Amino acid sequence: MKLFIILALVALTSATKWKPKTYKEWQEVEVKCEEQHKVSPEIKEKAKTARYLPKEQFEKNLCYMRGAELWNDSKGYNVDGMITLIKSIPAEENIDKDSQIDIFMKCIDNNSEGSHPIDWAYRGYKCFRDNGNLYTNLGKGKYYEEPEN
Ligand SMILES: *[C@@H]1O[C@H](CO)[C@@H](O)[C@H](O)[C@H]1NC(C)=O
Ligand SMILES: *[C@@H]1O[C@H](CO)[C@@H](O)[C@H](O)[C@H]1NC(C)=O
Repeated sequence: MKLFIILALVALTSATKWKPKTYKEWQEVEVKCEEQHKVSPEIKEKAKTARYLPKEQFEKNLCYMRGAELWNDSKGYNVDGMITLIKSIPAEENIDKDSQIDIFMKCIDNNSEGSHPIDWAYRGYKCFRDNGNLYTNLGKGKYYEEPEN
C-alpha cells in the first residue's frame, strides 16, 4: 500500500513538473500573444496608473501565462509551475519568496462559482494586487531558457 502511494506520487509529480519554455517556444508565444491581443495606446497609458490593470492588458498578460503553461482556462493556475516560477526570481531582487508563495496560495481559488476563465484569473490577480507586489514580482521569474550562444 505504502509503495503504491509512493509510486503514484512519483508518477503524479513527474507528469506535472513544470519547466521554463525553451527560447524558441517562448518566441512563438510572443508572436501569438502580440497578434491576438493588440493593446491600444490609451489602454497602455491607463495601465500605468490604474490600481488594477485594464482587462485588455490583463488578457494579454494572461495569454503569456497560458503560453508558459502557468494558466489553463479550465484548470486555473498551475500551482507547481507558479511556485517554481516564484522560486526562480533572482536572489539579487531581495524578495521574500515564501511570503510571495503564501499570497499566491491564499489568492487562488478553484472557481467553484463557475466564472468565465478571464474573470476567474482577474479575481486572483486583484487579490495578488491587494496583497502587495506579487504580480510585478512574477515578471522577474524565469519563463524561458536564455538562448545559448
Ligand atoms: C487545459 O486543461 C485541460 C484539462 O486537463 C486540457 O485538456 C487542455 O489541453 C489544457 N489546455 C492547454 C492549453 O494546455
Ligand atoms: C473547491 O470547490 C469546492 C466546491 O466545488 C469547494 O467546496 C472547495 O472548498 C474548493 N476548494 C478550494 C481549495 O477552494
